[in-house]
Amino acid sequence: MDQDAIKIRLMRNEDFDAVVGIDRKITQDSRRQYYELKFDKLFKSKDYVPASLVAEDENGAVVGFVMGELYLGEYGILQEEATLDTIGVDPDFQHQGIGERLMHEFMEHMRSLGVEKINTLVHWNDANLIRFFSANKFSPSKTINLERVL
Ligand SMILES: CC(C)(COP(=O)(O)OP(=O)(O)OC[C@H]1O[C@@H](n2cnc3c(N)ncnc32)[C@H](O)[C@@H]1OP(=O)(O)O)[C@@H](O)C(=O)NCCC(=O)NCCS
Repeated sequence: MDQDAIKIRLMRNEDFDAVVGIDRKITQDSRRQYYELKFDKLFKSKDYVPASLVAEDENGAVVGFVMGELYLGEYGILQEEATLDTIGVDPDFQHQGIGERLMHEFMEHMRSLGVEKINTLVHWNDANLIRFFSANKFSPSKTINLERVL
C-alpha cells in the first residue's frame, strides 16, 4: 500500500466501533467495556489531554490506533511522563509501516506537549510486541512490576 495514502489524525469519539473492531480482530476477544472506560476518560474528563491517534486509509477507514494517557498535574501543568496504553493495527494492514508511523506521530505529538518520557507495559512473553517496541527505541525500564496473586 502507498504509505502516503495513510493519514494519521487525533482519535475522535466516533472511532469507538472501529477501535473495538480492530482490537477484536487482533485479540479474538471483545473488550468493549475496557474501551468504553477508556473513551469515557478520553472524551469526558477535563483533566485528560487528547493524546490518542488513529491511522486512516484512503477511504477514511480506521486501520490502526494508538492510545495514550497524559494528565494535567497540579496547577494545570502537564506531566513530563505519559503512558502508551494500547497500540493496534488491523491484521490485514500490518507489516506496511503503519505501526511505525503511528508510533512516530505519537512521540512527536507528546514531545510537542512537553512530555519527556513514555512508559508502556508489555507482557514479557509477547516477543513480537517487544521487538516492535525495541525497534521503535523503547528499552526496559529500571523498575520492575511486582504482583501477588490472591
Ligand atoms: C505491533 C503492531 C502495532 C505493529 O504494527 P505494524 O503496522 O505491523 O508495524 P510496522 O509495519 O511498522 O512494523 C512491523 C514489521 O513490519 C516490517 N515492515 C514495515 N514496513 C514494511 C514493508 N513495507 N514491507 C515489509 N515489512 C515491513 C517492520 O520492519 C517490522 O518488522 P519486524 O516485526 O520484523 O520488526 C501490530 O503488529 C499489532 O497491532 N500487533 C498486536 C498488538 C496488540 O496485541 N495490541 C493489543 C490489542 S489492540
